[in-house]
Amino acid sequence: MQFNDITLLISAVDPKQYPQDGLPEIVLSGRSNVGKSSLINTLLSRKALARTSSKPGKTQTLNFYQIEKQLIFVDVPGYGYAKVSKQQRERFGQIIETYLQTREVLQGAVLLVDARHEPTEDDFNMYNYLKYYDLPVLVVATKVDKIKRSQHNKQTKIIKQKLQFDPSDQFVFFSAETKVGHDEIWQWIKAHTQV
Ligand code: GTP
Ligand code: MG
Repeated sequence: MQFNDITLLISAVDPKQYPQDGLPEIVLSGRSNVGKSSLINTLLSRKALARTSSKPGKTQTLNFYQIEKQLIFVDVPGYGYAKVSKQQRERFGQIIETYLQTREVLQGAVLLVDARHEPTEDDFNMYNYLKYYDLPVLVVATKVDKIKRSQHNKQTKIIKQKLQFDPSDQFVFFSAETKVGHDEIWQWIKAHTQV
């Protein structure tokens, strides 16, 4: 898909800074370094819109990306990065919690997990946290280019089991390298934002 108008509206930490246009929002969450920014770049066909890095902890604020004045992706700080100070971790937690608690235009959450591994405790907690706020969740198992096709079923089971996956949610494999999963993810986003 080609997009002409993508704007990083604001990097916000406080509700007063959130955009006020009432556009539907999708939040993207996941462990630090799991590939959130890479997913955003793939979905928007941009190489370096959302900054990616092999160094975890790159994204430190809520980044609101407005797409064609129709919807907004919210890239949030990754969790679970050991080298982030306790203080900073609590700050990130607070920023995300405030957002989830107060954001009325939020329509759904994309939770990224690593296709290669069993989800962490942090992943489990985040998934349940999103469910607690009654959000429809799309679980995206990313970096699937790093596993063999023959492992797909087994990894699907492991991931769903660890998360206690709700059957009303959706699960998809994705790769920023091969773009597999791109269309399904867009379908889900469109279905949940009515764009
Ligand atoms: P933070 O902002 O630090 O939380 O990280 P992030 O979740 O935004 O991750 P980012 O997109 O920066 O990607 C982290 C690293 O994983 C980078 O080196 C990416 O190139 C790599 N990566 C992301 N997605 C994929 C993928 O689908 N396949 C492969 N092989 N590598 C990926
Ligand atoms: Mg990032």
